Amino acid sequence: MLKKIDKRIGILTAGGDCPGINAAIRGVAKSAILEYGMSVTGISNGYTGLINKEYTEIEENNISGILTLGGTILGASREKPFKRRILQNEINEPKLIKEHYYQAKFDCLVCIGGNGTMRTASLLAEEGLNIIGIPKTIDNDVWGTDVTFGFNSAVNIATEAIDRLHTTANSHKRIMIIEVMGHHAGWIALYSGIAGGGDIILIPEISYSEKIICNYLEHRALNKKPYSIVVVAEGITKPKKVKAGDYIAKVISDNLDFETRVTVLGYIQRGGTPSPTDRILATRYGTHAVELIANEKYGQMVCIINNNITSIPLSEVQDKTRIVPANNSLISKARTIGTCFGDQMPGIIPVKK
Ligand code: F6P
Repeated sequence: MLKKIDKRIGILTAGGDCPGINAAIRGVAKSAILEYGMSVTGISNGYTGLINKEYTEIEENNISGILTLGGTILGASREKPFKRRILQNEINEPKLIKEHYYQAKFDCLVCIGGNGTMRTASLLAEEGLNIIGIPKTIDNDVWGTDVTFGFNSAVNIATEAIDRLHTTANSHKRIMIIEVMGHHAGWIALYSGIAGGGDIILIPEISYSEKIICNYLEHRALNKKPYSIVVVAEGITKPKKVKAGDYIAKVISDNLDFETRVTVLGYIQRGGTPSPTDRILATRYGTHAVELIANEKYGQMVCIINNNITSIPLSEVQDKTRIVPANNSLISKARTIGTCFGDQMPGIIPVKK
């Protein structure tokens, strides 16, 4: 039954796109319109659309079919209005955003994005705007929530890629290196590496030793394991201007006589249809955001903690990054099955003569 609450929501999607954004837009729009009779305005291309007043009214009937669609129907940009001090004669973007928000008669702004988007959202909330954040990113690095949508889809894609590398690696007895995204966090590498049976997983949170990587690959070869899969997060420590995967390939070929190939998965991880898990999470986030708006609980980011959908103040999330903690239980479990994280040799594998 419609519980009529007269509110006008502006919704934008900022930062890098990911699978599940449209499912979140749909969750917000459908529940705002159907449950509360609110009106929803789509803002194009992240915060840029608010600066340029690029709006489209969202009706319930024109969001049909977007649940399964990758990317974002609103467009995205990495525009950061608070990025630096505003120089004289320069456009004051935060001021414009505020003006346009009031002009458009928005009661609340829903900002879907990652860490950068949440930072801007928090600063706009400080400026007095009613803001709700919805966290999304394949990197899974937004602080304050157990998981972001986009991550599960990215892990599925990376895992499938690793599965495919196994068969070709085996045929040619090669070392296959796969570089995955994640920015400064190793979540995608950790999860896809474990799901795909990676022999070595390198993540930014664990410092690796080149010697250990080479010793372990050599040990595997001596132990009749003539091919290996090395999953590398893009954010690992490496010399500047070299890609993480290429650097590890060089380390291996400089020290060992193994044929080595590199696959950089890149934007394939960010594109395409969201997994069912991400569609569900995005729908839960979107509908919860509207509940917060109905209750006028602003300045919050929706989040999931122990499978409960709740929210956290944006001010607590701002300027933090959720990296893989040292005591992550997946790491310790993976070590027990012989996965190497580059910091220590797995304790098993006797060399059979
Ligand atoms: O969406 C997150 C992410 O994919 C990072 O892992 C990556 O480093 C970055 O975005 C690159 O995206 P862009 O080229 O759009 O800035």
